[in-house]
Amino acid sequence: MPLDSHIWPDTAEVSGGRLHVGGCDVTGLAMDHATPLYLIDEVTLRGSMRAYRTALARHYPGPARVHYASKALLNTAVAQIVAEEGLGLDVVSGAELLVARRAGMPMGQVHMHGNAKGEAELRRAVDWGVGAIVVDSLDELDRLAALTHGLVRPQGVLLRVAPNIDAHTHAHIATGGATAKFGLPLESVGAAAARVLAADGLRLLGLHAHIGSQLFEAAEIRATVAALAREMARLRDALGVDLAELSPGGGLGVPYTADMPPTDIDAYAAALGDAVRAACATYGMRPPLLTVEPGRSIIARAGVALYRVIARKLGPNGVPRYLHMDGGMADNIRPALYGARYTALLANRAADPPGPPVDVAGRYCESGDVLLRAASLPPAGPGDLLAVAVSGAYTLSMASTYNLVPRPALLLVGDGVARIIQRRETEEDLLARDVPLESYL
Ligand code: LLP
Repeated sequence: MPLDSHIWPDTAEVSGGRLHVGGCDVTGLAMDHATPLYLIDEVTLRGSMRAYRTALARHYPGPARVHYASKALLNTAVAQIVAEEGLGLDVVSGAELLVARRAGMPMGQVHMHGNAKGEAELRRAVDWGVGAIVVDSLDELDRLAALTHGLVRPQGVLLRVAPNIDAHTHAHIATGGATAKFGLPLESVGAAAARVLAADGLRLLGLHAHIGSQLFEAAEIRATVAALAREMARLRDALGVDLAELSPGGGLGVPYTADMPPTDIDAYAAALGDAVRAACATYGMRPPLLTVEPGRSIIARAGVALYRVIARKLGPNGVPRYLHMDGGMADNIRPALYGARYTALLANRAADPPGPPVDVAGRYCESGDVLLRAASLPPAGPGDLLAVAVSGAYTLSMASTYNLVPRPALLLVGDGVARIIQRRETEEDLLARDVPLESYL
């Protein structure tokens, strides 16, 4: 039985009443590796990477590249796949940069982002030769100019612009409005560009913006490109500098429930192509080197989370009101933080008919820790296995150790083989940073 293909991984199917992903019976994986357990389907992951490259080659009039936004989910294996598929990588911390290097990612294809990069992080990015540092403020620019003074090979810089566009998404993940904490306000872009041009260790490559995440409207991406192109033309006219690179960020949305539209990477690339063609005509420019930075739309649907039902709680009518799971907000904070909705099925009895709607509660000590509201599932009880779709992005990468529960393992599945790419955290891992007071020993 095939599953809703725009929600579940490409390889997901129900056979013998059980969910299979990447040719693996997930009920068996949960037994072998314990729960909660996260899976990444390699076919779906590589497929979305290829879809971006193909779509841009088809629709974009100039050179284009795809940088995976590693904040969605990063570990060495994922970065190795990113490198193998010919994508670049966006990082926001020294450790993300370390993983990129460990994976053998060519540093010229890495961009260093962040609104508050530390001195050591900037130094590492410069020393390791990242392709661009995306500068977020004038203060950062001054620090970077001092740090790179006298460099033989100047460090490439993109300026992050706050383009004053309000994206239609959850307020927590809208990043391009006038009051957003990210990017240089439009009125200081000229000053920033002049400072880069005056710094002997820096090279101004172009402009960047990222207006938000989980976006579905082509008009938003068009507006972002138009705003960046306008600034590029302004800088050309004011400073005589022809900028060769433009990055409109990431942000393409994905469906989490069957009622949402599928992700259309081809239409996104077509909108980008149109927007750049229009801007080039308006301002008499050549199509710039384009960098897009998708995170969620690359990895979200490749991911499946598995949880075991620990207990039921009945309502006054005797009908189960809650299923209590062995994971929750510490491995996926999105429902609690954004009111995000998910789709689930009972992995070990996936073909059974649904019972009354039930809330799926996490195990953490917080009333808001409810993974799904009114889920449509077969009547379930202790020992049953729940699979949650679209769990690849912004779940494990935002995981915490709340209540001192070790973080789940992550498996890469494909061709009937499951490989551990991040082992389960142990209690020893958790206690390794804990330093008792000597007097109490
Ligand atoms: N580029 C920059 C500069 C970004 O800040 C982001 C995401 C991306 C690219 C990738 O955006 P994506 O294609 O994944 O939408 N935790 C939130 C999402 C935060 C996004 C942060 N920036 C969530 O779970 O919805």
